[in-house]
Amino acid sequence: MKKVFVNGYGSIGSRIVSFLKDDPEINVIGVGKYSPDDKVNLANSKGLDVYVPERKLNDFSNHKIAGTIESALDACDLVVDAAPGGHGFKNKKNLYEPKNIPAIYQGGESTTGSESVSDLLFNSRANYDLAIGKSHVMQGSCNVTGMGRVLEPLRDRFGDSLIRFDVTLVRRWADIEQTEKKLSDTIEMTEKPHHGDDVKLYFGKDAPLYVRAIKVPTRQMHLHIMDIRFKSVAPKPSEIHDIFRNEFGVATLWTAKGTKDVRDYAQSMEFNFTDTNMIHIHANMTTSIGDTVQMMYSDDQTGIVIPENHMLLQAMLFEKSYQEAFNHTESIFHMKEKKQKLETHFAKKD
Ligand SMILES: NC(=O)c1ccc[n+]([C@@H]2O[C@H](COP(=O)([O-])OP(=O)(O)OC[C@H]3O[C@@H](n4cnc5c(N)ncnc54)[C@H](OP(=O)(O)O)[C@@H]3O)[C@@H](O)[C@H]2O)c1
Repeated sequence: MKKVFVNGYGSIGSRIVSFLKDDPEINVIGVGKYSPDDKVNLANSKGLDVYVPERKLNDFSNHKIAGTIESALDACDLVVDAAPGGHGFKNKKNLYEPKNIPAIYQGGESTTGSESVSDLLFNSRANYDLAIGKSHVMQGSCNVTGMGRVLEPLRDRFGDSLIRFDVTLVRRWADIEQTEKKLSDTIEMTEKPHHGDDVKLYFGKDAPLYVRAIKVPTRQMHLHIMDIRFKSVAPKPSEIHDIFRNEFGVATLWTAKGTKDVRDYAQSMEFNFTDTNMIHIHANMTTSIGDTVQMMYSDDQTGIVIPENHMLLQAMLFEKSYQEAFNHTESIFHMKEKKQKLETHFAKKD
C-alpha cells in the first residue's frame, strides 16, 4: 500500500480524499487544513486525520488534530496538493522539494514561466504515458480537461481535415459549496484566458485552437461553445456524436434544458458530491453548416478533474499502464454506469 497525503481540504481536496479512501491500494494519511473552522470537524467526522502547518498549531488548540503537515509529509509516498492557485508552487519550493516528495498539483498552478510546478500538464486522454514515474506533475484545470475530452477524439477521427477550433468558455462564477462567495449580477470578460495555451501543452503548440472566456453568475457548471471548421463539407451531427459513444467521461444528452438539469439529476441519483465527473455534449445543439460544426457541452467543474487525479496518481506511484490504471479508476468511479444513466435519462424523444 502506498501512503498519500492530501494537502488542502476545499472543493477539490475533499473530493479527491473521499475517493482515495475507497482505493484498496492507497493508505490515506490525512488532509491538510490551514484555517481552524468547521471543516476540521467535518474531516474528523469522516474518519480523516487532520494536519496543520507547524507555525499555526496554536490556532487549532480548540480542534482535534493529528499533527503537523510537515510530519505528515515525512510519512507519505506522494502528496496531492489541493491548495488555492499559486500556493502549490510555494509548497513545492518550501516543502515537497526539500523533503524529496513526489507531488500532484492542480489547475490553478502553471507549467510555464518562473512559477512553473512541472514541465508536464496531464490529460489522461492525451499524455498518460508521459506521467509514468514522474515526480512533479500538474493536473489540468476543469476547462482544460474538458476541452481535451472533446478535441482529442475529434483529432483522432478527422485528423488533417480539421482546419480550426474556436471555443468560447462560459465559466461558472463559484462552486456549489462556496456559499460564502456571492454571485455578481454581471457577465465578466476574461482577458487573455490561460486555457487555450494550457490545452496546447498537450494538443500541440501550433494547434489551430482559439479560446475566449467569459464568466457568468451561476454555480452550475461551465459551458463550452465550440465551432469546428473542416477543409470541405463538415460531417453530420450524428457522425460527431458517434465518436463519443464509447469515450470515457463524455455523456451525450438530448433533453437537458440547462446545466442545472444535469446537476439536479446527479443529485437525485445520489452521485457523490452531486458530481457527474464528466462533460455532457448537449446533442440537440449540434449543427452542421457548410464547412463548420457547431457544438456545446457542459463541464462538471469540480468533478471532472477527480478521476483524472486518480489516473495520474497511478502513473506516478505505481507506474501502471494506461489500461491497468483506467480499469482501476473505473472500478472506483463507475463512470460507464454514470454515463449510461445520464444518457438514458436525457435520451432523445421521438
Ligand atoms: N473548484 C473547482 O472547480 C476547480 C476545478 C479544477 C481545478 N481547481 C483547482 O484546484 C485547486 C484548489 O481549488 P479549490 O476550488 O479546491 O479551492 P478551495 O475550495 O478554496 O480550497 C482550498 C483548500 O486549500 C487549503 N489551503 C490554504 N492554504 C494552503 C496552502 N498553503 N497549502 C495547501 N492548502 C492550502 C484551504 O484550507 P483552509 O480552508 O483550511 O484555509 C482549503 O482547504 C486550485 O488550483 C484550483 O484552480 C479547482
